[in-house]
Amino acid sequence: MDVAVLGATGDVGRQVCTQLIAGGLLTPTSRLQLVGRPDGGSRSAAFGLRADLVDAFDERAPLIDVALQPDDVVADAVVATAGRTAPAKVGVSGDRAALAADNLEVFRSYARSLARHGSGKEVVIVVTNPVELGVAVMAEALGRHRVIGMGAWLDTLRFRREIAVSLGVRRHRVGGFAGGEHGLRAVPLWSTVRIAGLDEAERRAAVAHLRGGRTLDALPAEVAAAKDLLDDVAARDVGEAFAQVDAMPADLRVITRPWMTHQSGAKTASSTAAATVDLVRTLLDGRDIVVAGQVALDGEVPVPGRVLGVPVILGPEGWSRVVLDPLADDEERLLTASGEAVDAMLHGLGVLPPEVEDPVVGHAAATPPDVAPGAEPRWEVEVEVRAADEIGTVAMLTSVFASRGVGVESLATTSSADGAGGADGAGGAGTVVVAFRAGGRRARDIQRTLERLAAVRHVVVRRGV
Ligand SMILES: NC(=O)c1ccc[n+]([C@@H]2O[C@H](COP(=O)([O-])OP(=O)(O)OC[C@H]3O[C@@H](n4cnc5c(N)ncnc54)[C@H](O)[C@@H]3O)[C@@H](O)[C@H]2O)c1
Repeated sequence: MDVAVLGATGDVGRQVCTQLIAGGLLTPTSRLQLVGRPDGGSRSAAFGLRADLVDAFDERAPLIDVALQPDDVVADAVVATAGRTAPAKVGVSGDRAALAADNLEVFRSYARSLARHGSGKEVVIVVTNPVELGVAVMAEALGRHRVIGMGAWLDTLRFRREIAVSLGVRRHRVGGFAGGEHGLRAVPLWSTVRIAGLDEAERRAAVAHLRGGRTLDALPAEVAAAKDLLDDVAARDVGEAFAQVDAMPADLRVITRPWMTHQSGAKTASSTAAATVDLVRTLLDGRDIVVAGQVALDGEVPVPGRVLGVPVILGPEGWSRVVLDPLADDEERLLTASGEAVDAMLHGLGVLPPEVEDPVVGHAAATPPDVAPGAEPRWEVEVEVRAADEIGTVAMLTSVFASRGVGVESLATTSSADGAGGADGAGGAGTVVVAFRAGGRRARDIQRTLERLAAVRHVVVRRGV
């Protein structure tokens, strides 16, 4: 699989790149595209980041490319981390409306390019804030099922962790989701919480104990009061501010701990990248898995909000379905407030609902309407290899195509006439000729990946044969 990280040299982008490679998600036959801006510091830093990543992970690094124009982005999964962030400073609260207005153009420029030049199949994971704005813009351009915001997955992992901490168990024993608008208006969905090893009655008792008689109706006021308190305390002692967070109820901590972490100056790059990489892993995994994410809704949830964080089924081609049982009354009220806030932001910025709906997820849904299936140009690639007669060689070559969703139309193998293997004297050298259909960028990407394989000596690509 090929992954492009928009804003790769930023704090989150850099962490995403590092975790993708360190976690073994990107193998040497895949490609990581570091996307920066042609102007500003990210231009030179993108080249430096590539050198640094190769330095760190040479043996297992994927092909790492730099792209400085939105039109040059090509990947199966696009992680959007480009854009401005709120100030990471105690006592300074950012202007969210200004942040949204600034990042809108970033979202639009990549959405336009992906719609025009993309494969029609790439899945976009939006990290940049406001996540809901990014999802709305990208979904409008690419189709809603191919776009997911990772904020709700991060909020979900935080919710599970805070419950686990309160119960004295490990996070993986806790299930459940947080939804709504990412950040200060996240909605911890207590009705979805499950705890491994506890039966229904025990779970209800544990949840009731953790909630301490509070409902979500109190949460917005509690968040506002906590921010004031933490600002005050952190101005004197940030350590003491974190101690104050520890003393708060679990669902309030879901919101206040990351807020304090960001304000402290550390920001939340590691956890954000870990949650993002989780979603990339799900895309790679090939199975449908339930995660939470911000998605463009079409009436699936009985509350306002054109884009909201909800549990969805995510698979290699995007998300397919919202999976949300009937909500408790206080959850519905808070989700409604969250949805109204998202709609007000989108309306204020003139971001309109998608005009064309794509009700089917999968290849048919992903094919842009103006591209007939099979309309992509045909290519023939001639690969000179060191051991054409080895099954492993052919499998390795075909995996370069398969992992990019490119079908091989024909494949022919010939051994070299002398059988001596040429310059390095190895036996079984020869040529493998593969015909396939793909866009020009994809074909170049395949050529470059093939050229990097140790078993490959030379690659020639011809169009239209
Ligand atoms: N969704 C979440 O859970 C979550 C969590 C943390 C941060 N974020 C958001 O992620 C974004 C990035 O955060 P960060 O801390 O890495 O910020 P950062 O300032 O460290 O990095 C942003 C990067 O984006 C680049 N950039 C800006 N415009 C660009 C463009 N048009 N094309 C390519 N690159 C461009 C900048 O050069 C910079 O390298 C912010 O919007 C932040 O609010 C989201």
